[in-house]
Amino acid sequence: MNRAKARGIAVAASVYDRHMTTQLAMFNPFLPSFLADPYPHYAALRAQDPVHRSLALQVWVVTSFAESEAVLRDADTYSSDLRVATSPLAQALNQQRNASPLGHVATVLNSDPPTHTRLRSLVNRAFTPRTVEALRARIETVTGELLDAVPAGGPFDVMTALAQPLPVIVIAELLGIPAGDRARFKRWSDEIAATTRPMVPQAGIEAARRATTELIAYLEPVITRLRAQPEDDLLSALVQAEESGERLSHEELLAFAILLLVAGNETTTNLIGNAMLALLRNPQELEALRGEPELLPRAIEEALRFDSPVQTLIRFARRPGRLGERTIQAGESVLIALGAANRDPARFVEPERLNVRIERERHLAFGLGPHFCLGAPLARLEAEIVLGALLERWPSLSLAGEPARGGTFTLRGLDSLPVAG
Ligand code: HEM
Repeated sequence: MNRAKARGIAVAASVYDRHMTTQLAMFNPFLPSFLADPYPHYAALRAQDPVHRSLALQVWVVTSFAESEAVLRDADTYSSDLRVATSPLAQALNQQRNASPLGHVATVLNSDPPTHTRLRSLVNRAFTPRTVEALRARIETVTGELLDAVPAGGPFDVMTALAQPLPVIVIAELLGIPAGDRARFKRWSDEIAATTRPMVPQAGIEAARRATTELIAYLEPVITRLRAQPEDDLLSALVQAEESGERLSHEELLAFAILLLVAGNETTTNLIGNAMLALLRNPQELEALRGEPELLPRAIEEALRFDSPVQTLIRFARRPGRLGERTIQAGESVLIALGAANRDPARFVEPERLNVRIERERHLAFGLGPHFCLGAPLARLEAEIVLGALLERWPSLSLAGEPARGGTFTLRGLDSLPVAG
């Protein structure tokens, strides 16, 4: 065993000792203590059983960095297509998906090569650094307007004032949705995104189906208009995206627009909230950042690692394979705990500490390999603008109450973050 790994096990074991002395490590993400703070649970699992079989959830749970990386890099063995999974739970999810509008359509997120390669190269063409950079001025303006609306002097909630509204406005802008339609767009977006939560009630599934149908009805005539008369927005670029004569089909285009809502909203909201909370709870780091604002991009990467907005990804084994010391059978599901991998002491020095100065190894908060987050540059840009503006306008910002935790074990975030300054 190498020294880093030995040190990792020692650190994780001491965290484990403090928190759950005699029990064998288990994966129960529905425990309130898990939602409040999953990291001691992850440390225990990583130390005892880094590729862990959860019988209750019918998945393998991977908490070590090396094995998480191995799964994400090997898209041939570890598929993103739910239809590969054989467990009754996965099959029920698959049926649920097929019953939703456009549920059967392949998107970048749920497909494997070669379909993934074709779709990704088409959307990559529209989602360029130029498209993202072109949004900088708009994001700054919208952030400024949202901050202007914050009552002077008193405490305010970072989540409702800024972190929740901004990402949906930005995606609406990206898709060319006029400002007057934003409220409807936000409602559709929230209802559709709610189905990414585990154990969604039937009423939620139906609300999401209605929202998707309404959104499709809204987008259809927009797309028809843009086909005839392209404008300078992402939807027009997608309509035009061509590769060796191939375009995105009409259904693929709609499914992609909807995917952007699901993939880009709550995640970015949670990055802004989690990053701000981590800084407020580590005043030394906040001060370091105030002293050297050029550390901001690094601070955002550190916050992504330290309290990852996307905590888990799922893959399905196409064929049997070894993972760490375990054998995964074809058809089995593998949950990659990004939040755990991002605190693996075998990869990161002092992983349980937020450190905005240190140059870290690459984290997994945006995934890795062929499915690496398409929106990473946009999410980074939004976080940079928002955190920069908050620190500039409030030179002595501090917590003004206990934040309320929202989110789920997959999407980690806050419902409220009261601050004053
Ligand atoms: C902090 C914010 C964000 C985080 C933490 C995040 C995280 C991730 C992760 C972990 C994946 C990999 C999924 C997988 O491998 O199965 C992913 C994929 C993706 N993300 Fe993000 N994301 C964020 C923001 C955004 C934004 C703003 C957009 C778009 C507007 C976006 C669009 C996408 C898309 C389209 C994919 C699928 C890419 C593919 O499968 O090829 N994300 N994201």
